[in-house]
Amino acid sequence: MTPTELDAILQDGHPGAFRLLSPLGRRAAMPLGIPQQSEQARGALRKATIGQITDGAGFPLALPSIARHYAGFADTTALLYSSQYGLAPLRAAWRQRLDLPEGAPASVPVVVGGITHGLSLCADLFTGPDVPVVIGTPYWDNYDQIFTMRTGAPLVTYPFFGPDRRFNLAGLAAVLARLDGPAVVLLNFPSNPTGYSPYPDEAAAIVSLLAAHPHPVCIVCDDAYNTLYFDPALYGKSLFGALAAAVDRSRALVCKVDGATKELVFFGGRVGFLTFSADGAAGQALAEKAASILRGTVSSLNTPSQVAVLGALTSPTLAAESAAVVAVLAERYAALRDALAKNGLAALPFNSGCFALLPLPDHQDAETLRQRLLKEFDVGVIAVPSANALRIAFCSIEAADIPDLAARILAGLG
Ligand SMILES: Cc1ncc(COP(=O)(O)O)c(C=O)c1O
Repeated sequence: MTPTELDAILQDGHPGAFRLLSPLGRRAAMPLGIPQQSEQARGALRKATIGQITDGAGFPLALPSIARHYAGFADTTALLYSSQYGLAPLRAAWRQRLDLPEGAPASVPVVVGGITHGLSLCADLFTGPDVPVVIGTPYWDNYDQIFTMRTGAPLVTYPFFGPDRRFNLAGLAAVLARLDGPAVVLLNFPSNPTGYSPYPDEAAAIVSLLAAHPHPVCIVCDDAYNTLYFDPALYGKSLFGALAAAVDRSRALVCKVDGATKELVFFGGRVGFLTFSADGAAGQALAEKAASILRGTVSSLNTPSQVAVLGALTSPTLAAESAAVVAVLAERYAALRDALAKNGLAALPFNSGCFALLPLPDHQDAETLRQRLLKEFDVGVIAVPSANALRIAFCSIEAADIPDLAARILAGLG
């Protein structure tokens, strides 16, 4: 479609999304180019459209030296291009996996090259130097690159935890109250680096606060660590569904960015998904805008990885396999809680995800201590200078080794 045609669809079907689009977001559209013309010729007797080298019957003339590494894929089209939107059955399967509540509009997810890529598409579509991105601090450091470095959007922060050591709703509310134009609100639960996720009362309060915001707002749920919840009392799922059902589409849009990276323990696969709180033609229009930027940057995504994720989603053993991994992480989580307590180390509240954040006393500098731990105690952790804290990735240490890790950190603290 043309940008003008997409504008008309959004003005009618999702005025909030239309108001939020950046200049690039406005321009983004998929013309009737080579991929679309090729798609229209699918099934033609002589299909001479796209620059793929095939056997003439739709299968690749794959080099055996490449193909033997993909021997498990019965469907050899895994070595061909996929659509800019991603493989259709994979998009449908992920949409079903989202398991959204009644009344929550959602587009068919666009496949993206990992969660970072999905976030960067949100940055392209909805931000610029005049659009603040609101985020609790400390936050995942790559947001600086994804938003501020690329599109110039300033990050506007509030302390992630309130004085009661729970999610700082009042802090978020205070930032929102100062806004009078379009903004992005970034929610990351389970959080990196704190490892915190909301309890049901906190989740409900966040949804009400954002739904009542009177100005245009794009809420981005970075759900990278979704499914890794260790406290049964937690809300325990993405806020996307509740937000999508609650917000007013005349001024608010919700984007869900998630993927196989952590949920399916497929870090190198680079399969993520971008879903908008818009259905029907408006949802398709937003998907087209995202896919057109994708075409203008990486052209199309890794098909073998998509085939692998699709195979996993249709596997009868996937749920049990994922539960087994969550159980391993829950054991490491419990081991770290115990070990920190035994060593008198007080982390910030953590209940999910992969990390715990250990604030340091004022006389200890996080970066100096990180280097000392590495050189003198053979321990690698991440310094989080904005919180003068150390981030401990318990997800990558065996439970049996966690007491030793905590003891070394205590020794390093001196
Ligand atoms: C909060 C958060 N979002 C996104 C990502 C990146 O995910 P991906 O590797 O799929 O780009 C990470 C990875 O560390 C993360 O911590």
